[in-house]
Amino acid sequence: MADNQVSSANVDDMSVEDRKRRRFLTGITAGFGAIGGAFAITPFVLSMSPSERAKNAGAPVHFDLAKIQPGQMVKVEWRGKPVVLLKRSDEMMIGLDKITEHLADPNSLSSAQPGYAQNSARSDTANPELLVMEAVCTHLGCSPVEKLAIGPDPQMGPDSQGGFFCPCHGSKFDLAGRVYKNVPATTNMAVPPYIINGTVITIGEDGGRTA
Ligand code: FES
Repeated sequence: MADNQVSSANVDDMSVEDRKRRRFLTGITAGFGAIGGAFAITPFVLSMSPSERAKNAGAPVHFDLAKIQPGQMVKVEWRGKPVVLLKRSDEMMIGLDKITEHLADPNSLSSAQPGYAQNSARSDTANPELLVMEAVCTHLGCSPVEKLAIGPDPQMGPDSQGGFFCPCHGSKFDLAGRVYKNVPATTNMAVPPYIINGTVITIGEDGGRTA
């Protein structure tokens, strides 16, 4: 009986050891499982990190202005938005002052632009002829169509000095992106920050200047 008791105690001791060993092994396995899981997750997390394209989407954009002649316009993309670069001719610049009375915010007091572009031409005073503007209608975000020609236009009117017409709901803007009165949009199209060095413009960065 005593042998049996001893024997039984040994069996119980072994069971305890077995249980400890089992718990230990289980812990080790779970630990490796967790580590393995972490390694398995890492590539997924990495794959979710922003791609180079996404990271570059907010980066400044450079363009050589020597490629544009007076009266010509190009569009570049910055932060997913079309940005107009328009080198206005002398005639276009003169036209800006002819339509002031028809504009809702001629001095851009209620509109978005850097301080150095808050003027009637909405441009850096060092390069007044150059319009740099996000070509996004301030009503509901459509892309206005350029109407660069001066003269009668079915959408812009008989005395048009050139501008931009939004086909979505009929908003009109002049060649400084200033909105006309009595159209759905109420503010001028936005001017992004920019700086010009030589002939190269950088859009999306202005070194923090305000004037
Ligand atoms: S989105 Fe341009 S007028 Fe409505």
